[in-house]
Amino acid sequence: MKVITAKTAGFCFGVHRAVKLCQRAAEQGGRCFTLGPLIHNTSVTDALLAQGIGQIDSAQEAMPGDTVIIRSHGISKAEREILQARGANIVDATCPDVAKIHKIVSEESLAGRKIIIIGRSDHPEVTAIAGWCDDYVVFQDAAALETWLKSDKTIPDLPLSIVFQTTSSRKNFELSVNSAKKLCTNLKIFDTICDSTCKRQQEAIALSGQADAMIVIGGRHSANSIRLAEICREYCPRVYFIETADELDPGVFHASDTVGITAGASTPAWIIKEVNTKMSEEIKNTVSEEPEEAVESFEEMLEKSIKTLHTGDKVTGTVVAITSTEVSVDLGTKQSGFIPASEFTDDSGAKLEDVVKIGDEIESFVMRVNDVEGTVMLSKKRLDAIKNWEELDKLREEKEAVEGTVTSINKGGVMVNVKGIQVFVPASLTGVPKGEDLNTLLKTKVKLHITEINQSRRRVIGSMKAVAAEERRAKVEAIWNEIEIGKVYTGVVRSMTSYGAFVDIGGVDGMIHVSEVSWMRIRQPSDVLSIGDQIEVYVIDFDKEKKKISLGYKKAEDNPWTKFMNAYSIGDVADVKVVKLMPFGAFAEIVPGVDGLIHISQIADYRINQPGEVLAEGQQVQAKITDIDEENHKVSLSIRALLNEQKEMAAQTFVEDTEPVEEDAVEEASTEAE
Ligand code: F3S
Repeated sequence: MKVITAKTAGFCFGVHRAVKLCQRAAEQGGRCFTLGPLIHNTSVTDALLAQGIGQIDSAQEAMPGDTVIIRSHGISKAEREILQARGANIVDATCPDVAKIHKIVSEESLAGRKIIIIGRSDHPEVTAIAGWCDDYVVFQDAAALETWLKSDKTIPDLPLSIVFQTTSSRKNFELSVNSAKKLCTNLKIFDTICDSTCKRQQEAIALSGQADAMIVIGGRHSANSIRLAEICREYCPRVYFIETADELDPGVFHASDTVGITAGASTPAWIIKEVNTKMSEEIKNTVSEEPEEAVESFEEMLEKSIKTLHTGDKVTGTVVAITSTEVSVDLGTKQSGFIPASEFTDDSGAKLEDVVKIGDEIESFVMRVNDVEGTVMLSKKRLDAIKNWEELDKLREEKEAVEGTVTSINKGGVMVNVKGIQVFVPASLTGVPKGEDLNTLLKTKVKLHITEINQSRRRVIGSMKAVAAEERRAKVEAIWNEIEIGKVYTGVVRSMTSYGAFVDIGGVDGMIHVSEVSWMRIRQPSDVLSIGDQIEVYVIDFDKEKKKISLGYKKAEDNPWTKFMNAYSIGDVADVKVVKLMPFGAFAEIVPGVDGLIHISQIADYRINQPGEVLAEGQQVQAKITDIDEENHKVSLSIRALLNEQKEMAAQTFVEDTEPVEEDAVEEASTEAE
């Protein structure tokens, strides 16, 4: 077994300084008191008492000449004034970091600003800070702050200054700042979280991530120690929170490979040393007692069935009942396990009966053991969170895309909830063009790549742009793999020049040459198409090497020549429209897209010098189709041929009408009359 003790375990600078000032005061002699417990650790307060330093609980209890030590949490301005008024000899052990907050809130109050304190309203540090403000509010977390900010339209426009209890978590800081920045118009933010707390918490995260079990040493009422244990539980399944070495049973670690030790800011070095010594003895015992081959005996199995559970244990059980508020789990122990709905999933809208069923085997994390009631409160959510961090890191390593929901927008980018973990996507990596509103992403499901994970700082960065680029690349690859002549695509016209239109067919641009845009004679593609048009195109040709695709837009079935050939033959008479007069003849449209030529010699049945003597552009006339050149798509028309034909027919009719009647026919007619 390996035992690792955190470098940051134990007294912080502020507590160390306070204890030193106390000892110095004790050396001076006389009546000496701390105002409230110097720190939340009874071993320390007992030791101070032994040195003659007592405790008073309010400034009013001080007598003239008493030495009163102000603890590192500080006191309010009013309490200080009472001490002065009562003639006490004040030793100020307020931590300099806390004193700095008093200064900030005093100055901000003087400037007419309302103070927001993020912290626990019942914590002495927070009540002391409040005592230096004129107008203040206290909220424990970002959610409470946001609710207040939204409770009245006028609040976000107030001059607001926000400070944090020194032991607040970084996560709480970031969430609170994000909420406030989003809503407030006149906000000043002061990052007053103590550096030593951050470092201690970061080291605890790193250590609990690698240890099988963690020992957190701290006072039962010490906020920073309780928080430290909570943090360790997020990363390590077995966490033992103890105040002194006496509470430690080293035997519970005999199967552990690595045990981590950390301690809150109010834990003196001697307690940490005692714990270390006890663990060292256990290591010796473990080595000497370890059997060569571990064979589980009946007794051991029986022992397991009546095993005692500890907070922080990871357990597996079977779901035996589901209600709307909790899931009951049989852990195979004498206690009955239950997972409250709030500890089951992050999805507040999910119904328990939809996400789990009776008989499911479920892994969870022991939150609280109540031996009196015989119950164990479990959390699946926390165990999932640990796994999710690991999963996210794996996804990052393997560069795999993951889906999440955009939960909030801030100036720098968007926050995306991925498996219960908040991932920050900088604006430049959202794929939303610069200057456009990021709010359009709010509450939408998005895909992203995890690009950076720092679990100790609880910081994860993602990129939605990378996924979009990857999807684009895949589409482009698919197009080049599947392209073939004649294949039809639906594309969007992206740009146009005088010689062609460029069409995006799904990540790749192809070009429709102007001649392929329409069967009609057009000057440029824009005569028919507009940028943004969604059109159906087909592949005429492509070159994979040069990445060029020629597209066609005009359809074969619309080919005017085909239409003409289906409707007309040589000798037919067509109604045509004169479209252009030339010195050698006139062009006339037979069907849209097919013109025929009426040579000057074919315009009239007499000699003319130019077509304009008889025809005008736009004139509708009848003409006879005298020739069709299929190869060159040329048609010859003739008005003269039609006129001659008409003349001939007229002459024929005249001859028939004027021819003499034959005698036989007259005779036949007379006989019939008779
Ligand atoms: Fe001061 Fe930070 Fe300790 S504020 S008392 S140094 S935890």
